[in-house]
Amino acid sequence: MALQLGDEAPDFTAETTEGKVQFHNWIGNSWAVLFSHPKDFTPVCTTELGRVAALKPEFDKRGVKVIGLSVDPLGSHKEWSKDIHDVTGSTPNFPLIADSDRKVASLYNMIHPNANDTLTVRSVFVIGPDKKIKLTLTYPASTGRNFDELLRVIDSLQLTAKHKVATPSDWKHGQDVIIVPSLSDDDAKKQFPAGWKTLKPYLRVVSQPK
Ligand code: BEZ
Repeated sequence: MALQLGDEAPDFTAETTEGKVQFHNWIGNSWAVLFSHPKDFTPVCTTELGRVAALKPEFDKRGVKVIGLSVDPLGSHKEWSKDIHDVTGSTPNFPLIADSDRKVASLYNMIHPNANDTLTVRSVFVIGPDKKIKLTLTYPASTGRNFDELLRVIDSLQLTAKHKVATPSDWKHGQDVIIVPSLSDDDAKKQFPAGWKTLKPYLRVVSQPK
C-alpha cells in the first residue's frame, strides 16, 4: 500500500555518495527530504540536483537534511556529479543513495510500473523529526520539480507543527496565516492576544506567529 501522510517513514540502510546511511539515525532530530530521480546522466535530473545543491543553505537554515536517490550505482553518481557541476555550477553537497537493487525505491513505492517499470518517478517525501511522513509529491520523469515550492511547503509544515495555524493559498513565510477552526475564540484569545481579523466565522486571519 502507498505510504500516506502520518505514516512512519520506512527505515533502511543504504550506500550513498557520503558513505553508509542508516536513515532514521541519519535524520536524528532534523527534518528530512528524501527525493528520487529516474536516472543518472539525464537532462532534467541534472538540473534538479544542481538546484538542490545551490539551495542547500536554505535547507540548512530550516534544519532540513536532504538525500537523493536513483537506481544507478555509486560510481555512476560520482561521475555524474562532475557533469552537474559543469552544467549548473553546483556540485551535489548532500548524499545520493545508490539503490541498484531498488530496495529503498520499493519501500517507498517510487517505481510506478504504468509510467516505467524500472526507473523511479520523481518522488518527494518530507519527514519530520518524529520520522513521520509530512508531505508526499509525485512528478513524472518529464517534469522537473520546483524546489522553491518545496522550501515554501517546509516553512508551512514547520510553522503549523508549532502553532495552531494553517497557511492560505500561495502563502509565503512572513505573511498572515489562518487560525485553525478547531481553536475556539476563547482559546484563540490566549494564543493570539494581539487579536485577529474575522473574515467569516470559520476564517480568522492573524499575523504569522514567531
Ligand atoms: C531527465 O531527467 O531528463 C529524464 C529522465 C527520464 C526520462 C525523461 C527525462
